[in-house]
Amino acid sequence: MSARTPIIIDTDPGIDDAIALAMALFDDRLDVRLITTAAGNVDVAKTTDNALKLLEFWGLDVPVAVGAARPLVREPQYETAVHGVSGMEGYAFPAPDRSQLLPETAVEAMHRQLQASAEPVTIVCLAPMTNLALLLREHPEDQDRIARVVFMGGSTQRGNKGVLSEFNVHADPEAADIVLRSGLPLVMLPLDAGWRALVYPEDSARIRELNETGAMIHGLLSRYRGIGLRNGLKMYDGCAIAYLLEPNLFTMQEAPVVVELDGKYTSGATLVDFRGYLGIDANVSVATDVDASGFTELLLNRIDACRRESGVG
Ligand code: BDR
Ligand code: CA
Repeated sequence: MSARTPIIIDTDPGIDDAIALAMALFDDRLDVRLITTAAGNVDVAKTTDNALKLLEFWGLDVPVAVGAARPLVREPQYETAVHGVSGMEGYAFPAPDRSQLLPETAVEAMHRQLQASAEPVTIVCLAPMTNLALLLREHPEDQDRIARVVFMGGSTQRGNKGVLSEFNVHADPEAADIVLRSGLPLVMLPLDAGWRALVYPEDSARIRELNETGAMIHGLLSRYRGIGLRNGLKMYDGCAIAYLLEPNLFTMQEAPVVVELDGKYTSGATLVDFRGYLGIDANVSVATDVDASGFTELLLNRIDACRRESGVG
């Protein structure tokens, strides 16, 4: 058993995804073996470019594989109003070198990593869960190779894409349904956890001063449309990495969670059944609260640890 937790990150950078990657990639407690990209905040070509841009910024050599271009059933939906047209507005990255991409798809790259690993691997989903659903469908034998799935998605309260639906689940509810019914150990960092994991203007100013990564992230934050920097910017995807690093920052509750697929107005809503109305067994460990100041401290500490290959920070 390695001391570091092996993980695969499935992501759609995305400004909060970029911050989550910064938190994960320089932490000795995690071993990021693969990054797979998803159609989500922007199309998959752009999220892939964005993942490559970040890795090139840091000079890191983590394999990247391109994910599905569209959800399992529905038309793609994007979040350009939140993350900008490129998905990562606010910093002028050079064009990435696409020749660095793995030749295989996200599903095949995940499959290969899972089968090659000496120990089960944690899958971290920061995007619509299309790639993971396809993996479970195409390679059911991989289920035993997955330690658990830690995902940012769904809501125990209201939504940010529909009245009751959170973007990642709303964009591909059929994929979320497959994952939620998979029987895998599941950890859910819902939208409402992100509502409490906020970056305020004073935090953002501190981030800018930390190092070059901090300056880059400050640029992204200046273009990230949460509820506005003044009221705090929501670090949704960062919660998933924070949970892996410091689970004690979160209050967790086991609950049955299902996805509404057919609702005329509620498609993509997650029903988190804390009171047992549905009469089904708990399948998810759900974050119900976050130590907000502990999260901020961890976030700053992780950005402070980011280094560029040149060593200038
Ligand atoms: C989720 O949707 C995306 O916009 C964010 O990156 C996050 O993964 C929040 O609903
Ligand atoms: Ca995301």
